[in-house]
Amino acid sequence: MYSEVVMDHFTNPRNVGEMEDADAVADVGNLSCGDTTRIYIKVKDDVIEDIKFKTFGCGAAIASSSIATEMVKGKTLDEALKITTEEIVDALGGLPPAKVHCSVMAADAIKKAIENYREKNKED
Ligand code: FES
Repeated sequence: MYSEVVMDHFTNPRNVGEMEDADAVADVGNLSCGDTTRIYIKVKDDVIEDIKFKTFGCGAAIASSSIATEMVKGKTLDEALKITTEEIVDALGGLPPAKVHCSVMAADAIKKAIENYREKNKED
């Protein structure tokens, strides 16, 4: 069964949507089920000023993306890069063992968005 936190984030996801003026975007897919997550970030002074996500996936994947975006919003890029799947699962109050893999996309997509941002903005 899902925890109350998971149900809350699944039925009322935070930071869901698209971002037209995003500084970086990343798409990540879950090979085991074919689900996908897209993350948009807006960065100012090395801090994640805004973040949005779109997840095509199960309830655990949506809840993971929702809570992960809350966890990294306002953090520096270096801090946000350290987010782990374990921290996301803990923040959700746990996930059923068969659904832990669903939380991986959120952390991976955030990391990839930051990498894309740094790649785009690196000085020559
Ligand atoms: Fe695909 Fe959960 S079953 S992410």
